[in-house]
Amino acid sequence: MIRNQWYIILESNEVKPGKLLGTTRMGEKLVLWRDLDGKLSCMKDQCPHRGVALSCGKLIEGQIQCPFHGFQFNSAGNCTLIPANGKKAAVPKAFQAATYPTYEDQGFIWIWWGEPREKLPPVYFFESIGADMSYATIKDHWATHYSRAIENQLDVVHLPFVHHNTIGRGNRTLVDGPLVQWECETPELNLMNLWVYNRVDDGTPPRKASQLNQQPPRVPSLQFCFPNLWQNWISPDLRVLVAFAPIDEENTMMYLRWYQSFLHTPVLRQIVNWFGSLANLIIERQDKRVVQTQQPKRSGLHTGEQLIAGDGPVIVYRRKREELLQQNNG
Ligand code: FES
Ligand SMILES: [Fe+2]
Repeated sequence: MIRNQWYIILESNEVKPGKLLGTTRMGEKLVLWRDLDGKLSCMKDQCPHRGVALSCGKLIEGQIQCPFHGFQFNSAGNCTLIPANGKKAAVPKAFQAATYPTYEDQGFIWIWWGEPREKLPPVYFFESIGADMSYATIKDHWATHYSRAIENQLDVVHLPFVHHNTIGRGNRTLVDGPLVQWECETPELNLMNLWVYNRVDDGTPPRKASQLNQQPPRVPSLQFCFPNLWQNWISPDLRVLVAFAPIDEENTMMYLRWYQSFLHTPVLRQIVNWFGSLANLIIERQDKRVVQTQQPKRSGLHTGEQLIAGDGPVIVYRRKREELLQQNNG
């Protein structure tokens, strides 16, 4: 996993007031909880005293209490009480629990996965998804590395095969391009735009990306923001969004959202969003069946796979991923 990035790991509503949530993300056991003001905290799920899972403890007045010897920690991870030493005893700094910077917006929770920095880069979310859009989410576990799940969402060659009876109907097996451009490519933000030009095979050769109009007159079909956020720009009032939360090297939690802004009536809106989400799930399960069988489970530049021109976006993704890994994982 690329370090020094903000990763979406959960939805906000998964961390309920007054409850501890133990979960595995980024290959590590984490505990998330809220203090009395609702402020979110994410800590390594391991007590600095003798290694017990803090998520098995309880919340006492907005602090987490370890179930083993009752040490208490505040949301910054500072140990505030060692009961065996008495409540007046000072607590040495060494009892600090490891914490991760968190950020909440759009109903998602991000954590900063990397070195501590005085000023962290801003968190990105697609500006084109405005407050007028409502959504429903479906969560699904995939037994593969998040890089494979992402690659699949950048793969336009699979559409008429994996999705022959859903979004890939129409036998558009010939792949022109696709065209990939970086909307932003900086140390703080890597945002990729992708235009799809699949068509029915009429005997003419596919056009290379360089032969396509480099300034397409329409918004991109797909957008991907490193390290783990993607959207399918179906129309101005309809989007499918996926956040790929890494669980560990072989597992990913997919957060699939169906966004729309054509219906605003509260109950009706929820019903429609729910059906939209269900459609998402059906399509996503078609992908899952195939992608989970890919070997190796993690993508990379040198997997020995034989690629074709239509795999262009996958290659662009792998190159950038490799570059970021080299820059950040030393
Ligand atoms: S292991 Fe947590 S207080 Fe002892
Ligand atoms: Fe797919």
